[in-house]
Amino acid sequence: MIFYEYNGFCLCPWCGEIPTEAVPVDECFDPLVFVAHYPPEEHRGVFRIGQLSELDAPETVDLLRQHQAEPARSALERFVLKHGATVLNTAFSNAYDVLKAMQKTAPFRVNLVGLGDVGGTVLTGLKLLGKEISEIGIYDPNTAQCQRYALEMNQILPITDGQELPPVVVRDVDALFDCDVLLFTASLGVPAVGSAVKDVRMAQYARNRDMLAQYAKAARDCHFTGLFAQISDPVDHLCRAVFLASNRDEQGNFDGRGLLPEQIQGYGLGVMHARAEYYAKQLDLPFGAVFGPHGQDLIVANAVDERYDDAISQRLTQATVAANLDVRALGFKPYIAPGLSSAAISVLRTLRGEWHDGAVPFGGAYFGCRSRMTRQGVQLEQLPLNLQLQARMETVHRTLREFDYDG
Ligand SMILES: NC(=O)c1ccc[n+]([C@@H]2O[C@H](COP(=O)([O-])OP(=O)(O)OC[C@H]3O[C@@H](n4cnc5c(N)ncnc54)[C@H](O)[C@@H]3O)[C@@H](O)[C@H]2O)c1
Repeated sequence: MIFYEYNGFCLCPWCGEIPTEAVPVDECFDPLVFVAHYPPEEHRGVFRIGQLSELDAPETVDLLRQHQAEPARSALERFVLKHGATVLNTAFSNAYDVLKAMQKTAPFRVNLVGLGDVGGTVLTGLKLLGKEISEIGIYDPNTAQCQRYALEMNQILPITDGQELPPVVVRDVDALFDCDVLLFTASLGVPAVGSAVKDVRMAQYARNRDMLAQYAKAARDCHFTGLFAQISDPVDHLCRAVFLASNRDEQGNFDGRGLLPEQIQGYGLGVMHARAEYYAKQLDLPFGAVFGPHGQDLIVANAVDERYDDAISQRLTQATVAANLDVRALGFKPYIAPGLSSAAISVLRTLRGEWHDGAVPFGGAYFGCRSRMTRQGVQLEQLPLNLQLQARMETVHRTLREFDYDG
């Protein structure tokens, strides 16, 4: 096996493209990167593996299953078991630049697009809790709203004397991708409280997709290497729409010259987790985990292993999915728990490298689960999944994969 040194990484060719400047070395060293080439429209771009057998694992829900670690037979298998490794898909032209950007540590520069109800709540959370943020840039076409938030946010006291809270500045639309993380909460037409619209999230898809296309193109044009945190609805579908739009040329052909799939994460599952725990307590039922989209197809499980009970899980799922309607029935748009649980807290956990709820890509769809952002790439939480639960998850993943994103 041949290894190369490149910018402090140890590259191991796996059908992908090795840069011409890479220098051959005799032995493998940490951090190890398998340089692969997979079909970019369907496959992941940069992710962490904990054992060598995961290198060519099919892109299905089975990636979330905990597999028994096989005894290491070769030196390379032992190395991956000990240190983990990155898989980098060089079918994406920005693959190496994104790998380099992923090594960045705090402080992070964050920009927030959209200052409606959700955006304002996210901003408040980031301002108060974002100790790893150096500056928060804000943008909304409503300039008075921008100025109002710049004034109000910069007049908040810290809880401890001398503690620095991140300053908030109004950002020009042309400078939005000059940051490490862009949070997107903008929306065109959230159905009003009391409207007859049945699915308030999917009703926003086409207009929000079209609005997001210009931001996705801007990310492509400036070779953005940071994280695009998608918060507006329908979260999971829009993640895929942003990915596709950023990777298409002027003629609409997919060319892999835009965002890697992991550069986009959907932030809608956090509030579903919080709601599921809330209703589990109310109903005196056990809570295990949440999976899938921030919407009708959400899955709440009372447990992920052999204790999984489909009837209990369906009860929890129904209560959680209807939670936003409970707030709407009182005459209010739900945005406080979402802005904090789904977005501010989950994004901050991402930046801290902690496990968090969110939609991450595999197999041509964005799927809600727990993951963490490591310097080796996105790591999926692997669990001893009950087979009935896994079948439920596979059905939902298939629905997301088969959705007509251009329709
Ligand atoms: N992820 C979650 O958990 C979660 C939960 C609740 C709601 N949401 C979603 O968040 C989104 C925002 O909800 P809201 O209540 O804040 O809506 P809102 O109508 O209060 O605010 C939308 C904002 O988007 C701005 N905007 C419109 N066009 C824009 C553009 N082209 N560029 C930038 N900004 C633009 C508007 O000026 C407005 O400030 C909705 O899609 C909503 O369904 C997500």
